[in-house]
Amino acid sequence: MSKSKVLLTSLVVAVAFVASASVAMAAPIKIKFSHVVAENTPKGQMANKFKQLIDERLGGKVIVEVFPNSQLFGDNKVLEAMLLGDVQIAAPSLSKFKKYTKSLQIFDLPFLFKDMAAVEKFQQGPEGQKLLMATKKKGLIGLGYLHNGLKQLSASSPLRVPADAKNKKFRIMSSDVLAAQFEAVGAMPLKKPFSEVFTLLQTRAIDGQENTWSNIYSKKFFEVQPYITESNHGVLDYFVITSTEFWMGLPDDLRPQIKKALDEAILFGNTVAAEKAIADRQKIIDSKRSEIVTLTDAERQQWVNVMKPVWKQFEDQIGKNFIEAAIKSN
Ligand code: SIN
Repeated sequence: MSKSKVLLTSLVVAVAFVASASVAMAAPIKIKFSHVVAENTPKGQMANKFKQLIDERLGGKVIVEVFPNSQLFGDNKVLEAMLLGDVQIAAPSLSKFKKYTKSLQIFDLPFLFKDMAAVEKFQQGPEGQKLLMATKKKGLIGLGYLHNGLKQLSASSPLRVPADAKNKKFRIMSSDVLAAQFEAVGAMPLKKPFSEVFTLLQTRAIDGQENTWSNIYSKKFFEVQPYITESNHGVLDYFVITSTEFWMGLPDDLRPQIKKALDEAILFGNTVAAEKAIADRQKIIDSKRSEIVTLTDAERQQWVNVMKPVWKQFEDQIGKNFIEAAIKSN
């Protein structure tokens, strides 16, 4: 072999060596997944499943760390933290996006969805998929929806008709629609973080709150709320979200694999949500700490009549087309 050929071959080998060494030594991508609920909930289980799938499939290349129970950030801070790159994935309730978009307020409209099948149909339909991009201008993109379930009203006294809620204080998530919903029945809504709800109820600083069976059970609200009205008056679902900067900065070969793991984890979380809506309700009944108030059709209709005008109030902010599509999903 000529001297120049030897030189060229050694150069090629050296470049290949450096390239493979730098691939082998590339620092793993870290994904911090922050949420506010217990691990034994649809979201807690979904986040852990995502971590497990990533460990199995991309171990070494991508590392997922899950922070439950508001350990890292509460829902009022997590999106700011995401924009600063301090957290990469979160799944706040759809009721907590008012600073980022008005369209997602649709999910707070009382008595809009008949059941979780209708919620799923809307989310997977064209309008629901369009809403995944509702926060894009603010640097955040929705990667999918995760279910928790329908909300119930818990209180320190039985709530059968709207008049029973008059002048009572209810903790709500940071949503103007939810505030309007409680004002419609003459109650006083208070926007407070999830992490404070138990203490507020226990100390009787507030009279009640609205939440799903799994949150009422896993955060022990039922131990300090003697009555739960099975109202199914609204939905509490999640927006699985990331920052555009993080997502678009992922290597092209890894992004689809991470998305696939996330989609599978969401499907798993949705199964957990459906199971927990039944099982956690039953555990609360069995505990005998809280009495379930079952509404007659006429009593429920009173809540619908008083709360439904809230739709009109927010129609312009949300968009009539979205509301019409949601109604059709029933
Ligand atoms: C959650 O389920 O993530 C929290 C809901 C709430 O703030 O009530």
